[in-house]
Amino acid sequence: MRRLENGLPRGSEIAVDFEGDSIPALEGEPVAVSLLAAGESVFSRSVKYHRPRGPFCFAAACSHCLMRVDGVPNVFTCRAPARSGMRLERQNAYPTAEVDVFSSIDWLFPRGLDHHEMFAGVPVAEKVMAKVARHLAGLGLTPDSPAPARAPAEVLHTRVAIAGGGAAGLAAAQVLAVSKVPFILCEREPFLGGRLAVSAPEQNAPAIPSIEAFPAGAARLDAAVIGLYADEGGPFLAVVRKEMNEPRLLKIYAERFLIAVGGHSPLVPFANNDLPGVFSGRAASYLIRRCALLPFDRVALLGHGPELHSLAELLQQVGAKIVALIDTQSSPPVGAPDVACQGEVIEAHGRSRLTGLSFRRKRGTVRRVRCDGLVISTPVSPSVELARQGGARITFRLDHRAFAVEADEAGRTAAPLVFVAGDITGPTTAEEAARAGRRSAESLVARNRYPPCRSQMLIPISRAKCFISSMDRFASSMLVSVPHCIRTPPPLRPEAPAHR
Ligand code: FES
Repeated sequence: MRRLENGLPRGSEIAVDFEGDSIPALEGEPVAVSLLAAGESVFSRSVKYHRPRGPFCFAAACSHCLMRVDGVPNVFTCRAPARSGMRLERQNAYPTAEVDVFSSIDWLFPRGLDHHEMFAGVPVAEKVMAKVARHLAGLGLTPDSPAPARAPAEVLHTRVAIAGGGAAGLAAAQVLAVSKVPFILCEREPFLGGRLAVSAPEQNAPAIPSIEAFPAGAARLDAAVIGLYADEGGPFLAVVRKEMNEPRLLKIYAERFLIAVGGHSPLVPFANNDLPGVFSGRAASYLIRRCALLPFDRVALLGHGPELHSLAELLQQVGAKIVALIDTQSSPPVGAPDVACQGEVIEAHGRSRLTGLSFRRKRGTVRRVRCDGLVISTPVSPSVELARQGGARITFRLDHRAFAVEADEAGRTAAPLVFVAGDITGPTTAEEAARAGRRSAESLVARNRYPPCRSQMLIPISRAKCFISSMDRFASSMLVSVPHCIRTPPPLRPEAPAHR
């Protein structure tokens, strides 16, 4: 575990309050990074079995890093910028998250616990059980104080609204800018680039354009798209934008929508895959490239695909000690670390954090290595939710073993107003994603005269209104960040086990 130099500007040195302890931090960095750098590993406990959890994705997608921050429950600490005096408390544990008596549930029920049927039909006992289950379920306590009043929603109109400022979204925006088609691009990070900026460098990846390359106001940073709705004004992207650290709702009405939000980092199934110390590949490269933190000393890598091996190179460049590299699908390429092999993981070891890993090589030998970090890098699972909300058809891709949006070469989907590009149609390289973004934008430009469009979205107006009125409360509760879209069911991956 050590801080690195990555040439990016650093915030000033401050301190945050972590359950009464003063922890050093750099102002503005995700506070989860400050905690990792200070050697903290247990950030939360799982809801049912109270298993220890540490940050996995650094993308507001796994919920392992949720804490109570300044009296507000369930804040993604992987997205919350550190501020001097910030108060952090872990939730859902008694008496502490380090020593949680409820973790005995996991120990007592190694094969799982079906609380729905426990004592069902037994008089009195079933009522007691139902009450206990109700108390144990749920996460966090209500906020210390009511949410502050928020500014009213800002309304914008444009021709094309782009969700996602990664390789595909940026390439599309460049085409639209050259063709003088008005557009607004929303990127949830405070920087452009998506995977170009956070994942291990890829061959032939396009350069990240500067925000000044686009017309003023066309590219919006810190703007998380949370839904695609329609009301009497037509279809719009609902976006939560941070202004002076305060969330504000944007409604972006457009004639067409280009969804290029990429994918989620999937988990690989094996025993104890949820231990603190297990990171997604994108999280590891994000920590190294954007936050200048190497969060482990001895690391093992697991997965398949080109990103796995680029990640190994990145880790070697920053001096990480790679103790194993397990490619689950193919023999390691020439130039891979000596410890690389084809195989599968049997089990991760450790009680409250990762201490080792057992794996089986393809030729059958079993090895156990000592490590304090495990990085899982597999091709992403497409983030289909937003496109599905807009009416696009979703299909299960056997080749990728994941759900993806159905689209033609030009990014057209089953919904006439919704176009897609990039990983959302299936994992691609950055170069391919950029090409797809350009093709979608060219097809949008070709449709120069759009017919006026009204509510063709799936969400009825009444629900959209209800959504808008509840946005203030929702944004307040999230305070610092909201994921790319509302959590409609996540893409299923049949090989992934249920989280415990
Ligand atoms: S690490 Fe914060 S949600 Fe996954």
